[in-house]
Amino acid sequence: MKPKIVLTGGSGLLAVNWAVTVRETYDVILLLHEREVAIAGVISVKVDIGSYEALINVLSNYQPDVVIHTAGLTSVEVCESNPTLANQVNVEISANIAIVTHQLGIKMVHISTDHLFDGTTSLLTEETIPSPLNMYGYTKGLAERKVLERCPHALVVRTNFYGWGTSYRKSFSDMIIFSLRQKKQITLYSDVYYSPIYVSVLISSIHALIDKGAAGIFNVVSDSRISKYEFGMLLANEFSLDTTFITEGALAPSNNVVKRPLDMSLSNIKATEFIGRQIGLVQDHIRLMKTQEYDSSTIEIQHL
Ligand SMILES: NC(=O)c1ccc[n+]([C@@H]2O[C@H](COP(=O)([O-])OP(=O)(O)OC[C@H]3O[C@@H](n4cnc5c(N)ncnc54)[C@H](OP(=O)(O)O)[C@@H]3O)[C@@H](O)[C@H]2O)c1
Repeated sequence: MKPKIVLTGGSGLLAVNWAVTVRETYDVILLLHEREVAIAGVISVKVDIGSYEALINVLSNYQPDVVIHTAGLTSVEVCESNPTLANQVNVEISANIAIVTHQLGIKMVHISTDHLFDGTTSLLTEETIPSPLNMYGYTKGLAERKVLERCPHALVVRTNFYGWGTSYRKSFSDMIIFSLRQKKQITLYSDVYYSPIYVSVLISSIHALIDKGAAGIFNVVSDSRISKYEFGMLLANEFSLDTTFITEGALAPSNNVVKRPLDMSLSNIKATEFIGRQIGLVQDHIRLMKTQEYDSSTIEIQHL
């Protein structure tokens, strides 16, 4: 019998990639909110994950080995304009999942973010206390605390990822690749730094952490600290795209834009020591991503 994995946010970028990546080795159950997705070999169930009763019922029914909580209100702008909704989705739902998984003795993996800090320091460790600049970061930071209070053995993953997206949910790398293929000019910030990880490397690294019994906060990011502009240039070069369509820009403070951190880079030393291997440089991940572009599972994701 295969082990079972439940993914919340089942229609999201991370969850659909996760489902197609592990469906040969796990029975996969996607918990859906509004958008319906159907993936071959994967069970999809619509359920109100904010409801204690509904969640207890669905998890008691499937009895998964692990719940990966990917659902969230991920638009920085929507979180800022609707803090009540941001709190409900990012904090209250996460707390509910922590309560129920703890009660049922199921491993919980909570997907957090690198967007928790004020952006004045590089390569932050897991010990760093959140100092968010906006509601998205505030609610994601509060969610981490509530999850670990209610489910102390949960694994909380701080990350920032990219990969092949669906027809309705494009990733940052999709935006760059498809714009350049259409010869559209794009502007990428050279003053915003992060440590992006390719989604399939993120998934395999998190499974390595789960297999070794990791609990608490772990940064799961690449070995690189690069700017968004450098990321775009690396991607364009690997995919043989015309870099003259990339304009170097700066994230200047503006009244119209929600405040964002300039440096979101994280240190992955704790995770690499725990799993006993490097996670890899952005260049290596982009090369892997290119080799997977025409895989049947990538095409399946792009057609969702
Ligand atoms: N993408 C990134 O680069 C990135 C970076 C750092 C951290 N993260 C974190 O990684 C996680 C996954 O991100 P993603 O990019 O895969 O997200 P996404 O594509 O934006 O998907 C979000 C998912 O959450 C669901 N959802 C929204 N409101 C909900 C509600 N009230 N109840 C239940 N489900 C709800 C959505 O369902 P519907 O579409 O049906 O509403 C969707 O399935 C998030 O927690 C995010 O904060 C992402």
